Amino acid sequence: MRALTWHGTHDVRVDSVPDPEIVNPRDAILKITSTAICGSDLHLYDGVIPGVAPGDVLGHEFMGEVVETGKDSTLKKGQRVVVPFTISCGGCFHCQIKQYSACENSNPAEKQDMSATLYGHPMAALFGYSHLTGGYSGGQAEYVRVPFSDVGPIVIPDHLEDEKVLFLSDILPTGWMGAENAEIQHDDTVAVWGCGPVGLFAIQSAIVMGASKVIAIDHYPHRLELAKQLGAEVIDFRTTDVREAMMEMSGGIGCDAVIDAVGMEAHGFAIDNMIDIAKQKVGIGTDRASALKQAILAVRPGGRVSIPGVYGGMTDKFPLGALMEKGLQVRAGQTHVQRYTKPLLDKIEDGTIDTTFLISHRLPLEDAARGYKNFREDQDSWTKVVLKPGMEAGATV
Ligand SMILES: NC(=O)c1ccc[n+]([C@@H]2O[C@H](COP(=O)([O-])OP(=O)(O)OC[C@H]3O[C@@H](n4cnc5c(N)ncnc54)[C@H](O)[C@@H]3O)[C@@H](O)[C@H]2O)c1
Ligand SMILES: [Zn+2]
Ligand SMILES: [Zn+2]
Repeated sequence: MRALTWHGTHDVRVDSVPDPEIVNPRDAILKITSTAICGSDLHLYDGVIPGVAPGDVLGHEFMGEVVETGKDSTLKKGQRVVVPFTISCGGCFHCQIKQYSACENSNPAEKQDMSATLYGHPMAALFGYSHLTGGYSGGQAEYVRVPFSDVGPIVIPDHLEDEKVLFLSDILPTGWMGAENAEIQHDDTVAVWGCGPVGLFAIQSAIVMGASKVIAIDHYPHRLELAKQLGAEVIDFRTTDVREAMMEMSGGIGCDAVIDAVGMEAHGFAIDNMIDIAKQKVGIGTDRASALKQAILAVRPGGRVSIPGVYGGMTDKFPLGALMEKGLQVRAGQTHVQRYTKPLLDKIEDGTIDTTFLISHRLPLEDAARGYKNFREDQDSWTKVVLKPGMEAGATV
């Protein structure tokens, strides 16, 4: 089959690779109908996540048709399903308390050491996201093997087209959990750093949850415009002093809650960020946490800090004093996707949440490398890329 494979920093290619096979009785095989490129994929593309090997198939946002099932799968051939990017067994201690992204069984034992050393506990497995998280092949491909297919995938009713539901695989639940972790109360002022897909869904979720004011920070005009259309007030961090503007916009108090939807590759010429960029380039630093540091300083004392943005290792000059002295609450994490798919599918069906507004480009799978390049280099107009294995090569919609 054809699949998007990683070969090194800024080198991804669509290659022919072996077809996936049923390995365990709970597996299913999907024929991919739609798959997306995520901001998290850019961390792999930029070479800042360890443990990716040449030839690895990427992609953790996908949906498709069930074409084969193991004997213990609950899926049926012909069903259309969306698959969470977190691979979870459903039976371990963490899955039982719905902390699916902490599943103890999905990351094979022989792959657990690296994350256990880094984080104190091994990570759960994710699709197409390095050997740190299991080394599973991803779904930017014609076919994918889905382990624990009786737990993760959600069956989609025929009347909902792919693009309405594809983002249940990751960014919609991630934006939602980002807002939920900010413990938004009615009438809160909430600030969201980053107006990429995750930030935009966090903004939409915060408004649905009752925030009276949402302030969005980025530097790309089109992304800020999308945030505005959702109802946010916006700040361009290249031209405006963010903390000053935010104090003014929040009645001189500071925001009640802040959401970091940027993660480990923050942009900008803040001095700490310039140093972090240099360290990341030469491999002596992992995370550029400039946006998170700014968020911690901007939130009001007693406020909440939610971190859906991905971080991988250690960061320098972290404002631990502000965190402690201001009495802040912090919540973070890879999304417990399985917890949110059904309630969010209901919100898509009843029209509370729109998911299609952020798709900027649809490309054939064969052109996936072009999708990565443009999504990285022209983020302003390439907001979200959907890849279609069946689409004619060379086409862009
Ligand atoms: N927690 C999870 O389970 C989960 C799931 C999906 C994505 N993520 C992470 O969420 C983050 C966002 O994902 P995305 O797909 O929206 O990525 P993206 O790269 O499309 O968007 C990031 C946005 O942040 C903006 N930005 C950069 N530096 C900034 C700064 N200093 N201040 C304000 N804005 C800044 C960029 O201009 C960009 O628009 C990534 O780190 C991604 O890995 C986490
Ligand atoms: Zn993703
Ligand atoms: Zn589990």
